[in-house]
Amino acid sequence: MEIIRTRDAMQQAVAAFRKEGKTIGFVPTMGALHEGHLTLMRLAQKENDIAVCSIFVNPTQFNNPTDLERYPRNPEKDAEAVSGIVDIAFIPSVEEMYPEQPTETYDFGDLEKVMEGPSRPGHFQGVGMVVSRLFELVQPDRAYFGKKDYQQVAIIRRLVELKKYPIEIVPVEIVRADDGLALSSRNALLHPDKRAKAPFIYRTLKQAKEMAAGHTLQEVEQWIKERIGSDSDFELEYIQIADAETLQPISSFADAAHVVACITVWLDGVRLIDNIEFK
Ligand code: PAJ
Repeated sequence: MEIIRTRDAMQQAVAAFRKEGKTIGFVPTMGALHEGHLTLMRLAQKENDIAVCSIFVNPTQFNNPTDLERYPRNPEKDAEAVSGIVDIAFIPSVEEMYPEQPTETYDFGDLEKVMEGPSRPGHFQGVGMVVSRLFELVQPDRAYFGKKDYQQVAIIRRLVELKKYPIEIVPVEIVRADDGLALSSRNALLHPDKRAKAPFIYRTLKQAKEMAAGHTLQEVEQWIKERIGSDSDFELEYIQIADAETLQPISSFADAAHVVACITVWLDGVRLIDNIEFK
């Protein structure tokens, strides 16, 4: 595996692969890597001639400076973790990615008006800024994104449409710990006693999915609110039951062919997100 830190070197490497007619699979990450990230990378390696990952804590997608500061960073361990999986790890500095203050904006339409959109103003604009720069640099044939960030997958698809990138977006199932908690770099910030309680979030979602067969959407939503509210360690930021394609809220399960429930919960000062597909 080669570690590349500059845009110039990345461009040269890509040009050489292209000349040889090789396909490129790409996995962008913010590091503090875990099995979820590595699963995406293994898939990228399997489905393409060359696998490239990026490790870059992107400042433009953090609306909260404390969150950016606290974001776990583990560069040595990360490099070791990806070394047997990808061919190239692109690890640029902030100056390398943003030589000038970025000013572009993206019209993500209604996708940005729900869930993480209003909760984290500017977040998806920042994701658009970094992912478009990375896509233009790496020029992948396929790019892999985890369904854990369900809305991000929809935003990236929209970005590809807006910018007409010839890139296939591959959504990947959520990788969970044995106890059901969705793996996340942020889990490392939880104290052990709170970490032990965290699987409650996914348990609640699974029970809600079972409930959905015999109850209205409003009843299921209310039940989730009450259940999460019943333990004072947890604070619900939002629960949104939505059309899985448009991510817009629906008022009845019959209103969409595919339904997803997305949740954001605070535990121990850590913001945890998860989701489940109902049908
Ligand atoms: P990050 O949170 O590091 O996640 C990188 C990729 O790993 C994302 O596609 C995310 O959905 C996926 N991922 C994280 N946890 C996962 C899990 N438990 N199971 C499956 N996939 C998982 O998402 C970002 O970084 C950034 O927004 C980025 C796209 C890199 C732009 O900065």
